[in-house]
Parts: sequence; structure tokens; C-alpha cells
Amino acid sequence: MFSETKEGTTKILVPKQPTKYIFYNTKMELCRDIDIASISTFVSYLPSQHLTYIDALAGTGIRGIRVANEFGLSVAINDRSEPAYELINRNIRLNEIEEISNAYNENANVLLLQNKYDLVDIDPFGSPVPFLDAACRSVKKLLLVTATDTAPLCGAHTGGVRKYDAKPLNTEYHKEMATRILLGKVTRELCKYDRAIQPLLSYSMAHFIRIIAQVENGAKKADACMKKLGFIAHCFSCGNRFAFSYSDMLEMRVENKCNLCGRKMRIAGPLYIAAIKEKRFCEQVHEELGKRALGKKKEAMKIVDTCRHELDIPFYYEHHAICKALKVPPSSITSLIDALRSNGFSASRTHFSDTAFKTDARIDAIKDVLKML
Ligand SMILES: C[S@@+](CC[C@H](N)C(=O)[O-])C[C@H]1O[C@@H](n2cnc3c(N)ncnc32)[C@H](O)[C@@H]1O
Ligand SMILES: [Zn+2]
Repeated sequence: MFSETKEGTTKILVPKQPTKYIFYNTKMELCRDIDIASISTFVSYLPSQHLTYIDALAGTGIRGIRVANEFGLSVAINDRSEPAYELINRNIRLNEIEEISNAYNENANVLLLQNKYDLVDIDPFGSPVPFLDAACRSVKKLLLVTATDTAPLCGAHTGGVRKYDAKPLNTEYHKEMATRILLGKVTRELCKYDRAIQPLLSYSMAHFIRIIAQVENGAKKADACMKKLGFIAHCFSCGNRFAFSYSDMLEMRVENKCNLCGRKMRIAGPLYIAAIKEKRFCEQVHEELGKRALGKKKEAMKIVDTCRHELDIPFYYEHHAICKALKVPPSSITSLIDALRSNGFSASRTHFSDTAFKTDARIDAIKDVLKML
């Protein structure tokens, strides 16, 4: 019924056949490898503290078991499915981590409302929204959240407004839109409890978004954090876009006519408009990935390295889409980035898309540079 596999240096029993009672997705090993390096980096900032971690939606227990086994943190591992709970216990014994691991068979929200943990990991099916309130009450230092409901977050259907209290737009940069709407939602959930968020590493791949963020206490910090929320205005006619703050919106200081082509701009948000990662943290995670025995080391290092060098500006541009509109053949991304830089702009690649770039140049300036290439 079960077979033994390995992730990092951790042994894990997983169902031989997919079952609705115990979930395991090999494709998420990459995400878990990045988590291990990220948690290990974060924990190294707090060397003398005895930190607690909860894998609140654990399936086989793989995340929590890896955290306990690969660097010895005390872990709570929970799943409300009974077969999953039984397997979590077997996996704890298999790795001989009984002394630092506790398995639970609870509703995650109940456990999170009853206990506080330094690190809280929410890895649900689909949307994390049903668990965010309890997670934001429980967490003391580091919050890790996955979302796989990328369609409503991207603006591909209407659920974004209902679930995330935010309006997405289905633009060429929909992956970043989704990541920033999720971050915006988490920010507001934390701020309710006078807590502030500092994203350390946020990324989106294939079907999921992952956020790893530091949490700090204090009403003043929470107030400062609310200033990182805002909106984006987008012109579907010429591709122009700009971000603006909550207070600009509330005081109706926003011109919704495109200042380049005169057409109506569409508005998305509220969403997180500040940096979605910390460069130094990404550097350290990258180093940590290099040192560890990990199955997806190479891919993990590539993503974290791209995040590290990515400009903090929202939002990226799809190179091919602009070239198509201009009716010019696409050059290489590298030569475009070099050309933007030599024209005095900042420019970088983005982990969101291999064919996209970020820059502080406006769309009209980008088009001028592209025409010269
Ligand atoms: C996506 S799976 C977890 C995958 C796992 N974290 C991994 O990396 O392989 C989501 C899990 O949440 C569990 N679950 C769903 N709702 C829950 C709830 N309210 N409380 C506790 N567990 C829940 C499901 O049984 C399922 O095992
Ligand atoms: Zn326009």
C-alpha cells in the first residue's frame, strides 16, 4: 500500500496509488527543498532560541518531518484525515524523530487558534484563505503559505473578489498579479492583529504560489505595512501601467485615463506593491541550497537566484507580447535588458516568466528601445 521514497536526507512512506485520504505530490519536492533552505536560513538568525514549527495541513507529514529531520526543529504535524495521521506517525518513527515531533489529527484552524507557533506552514488544496485568520493569530515569527487556486487570483474567473477581497485583472503579468493579491490578503489578515509582514521570498511556479514571510508585532509596524498595499492601473490598449497607494485611491487622486493613449485604465487590487523578497535572504538561501543534499538542488538554486536579482518593481512585461504589438521580431531578453540599462533604466529578468523582464522604463520608452534593437 505504501512505498518508501526519499527527499533531502529524509525517508518517507507515501501511498503507492493516489488516494483521496493521503495526499503526496512529487512535483512539490522543489518547493519543499526551497523551504528547507529558507527555514534553515531564517532559524540561523535566531541561534539561541528554541523555535516551534507547525505543518498544519501535512498529508504524509513530509514538510514537518523534513524540518525536524534535516535541522532538528521541534515540530507539530497535523492532518484531519485519519489515514494521513496514521502515516505521519509511521513516518516520524521511520526517521527516528519521535522526541522532537508530535502528530495531531485535528482541524487545522482549531489547533492554530489554541496554540502559538514560531513558524506556521499552510499548504492546502487550493486556497489558503480558510486557514489564514487562524494562521495569522498563531504565527509568531515566520509564515509560509501556498496557494494553488491561481485562476481566481489571476483574474481568469471571478472568485478573486469573493475570496481575496481584491479585484484581479487578467493581464500578461497575471502570475505576479496573483502573488501580490495573495500577499495583500495575508498583509490585511496580519494587520488585524497588529502584526506586520516582511516578505522574504515569494515566488510562483507551474500551478502554485509560495510565500515565505517574516512576521513582526506592533501596531506601528502594522500601520507602516498597510502603506505597502495599493492598486495597479492598467491600459489594455497600449500596455501602460502604474501602481498607486491606498490613500491615493481613498482620496480619489487617481486619473483613470491613460496618460499615453487617452483610453480608460482598468484597476486591480488591493494588492501588495512593495518588494516581495529580501535580497540578502535570497542570497543566504541560495548559499544554503548549495550546501545541502537535495533532489531538486539545481532547479531550486536557479529560481532563488533569479528572485534575488529581480527588480522589486511591480510588474513584469512580456517581451513577445510587446514585439507582436510593434510588429518587430523579438530580440534576446539579455540584449533588451542591456539596451534598457544603457539607456539609463533599471532592468532585470523575472522568475515569473522566462520570456519576460522588469524595468522602471515606461511602455513608450520600452517600445523606443525595442525599435532600435
Ligand atoms: C495539499 S495537502 C498537503 C500536502 C503536504 N503539505 C505535502 O507537502 O505533501 C492538504 C492536506 O490538508 C488536509 N486538510 C484539509 N482540510 C483540513 C483541515 N481543516 N484541517 C486539517 N487538515 C486538513 C488534507 O487532508 C490534506 O492532506
Ligand atoms: Zn494607454
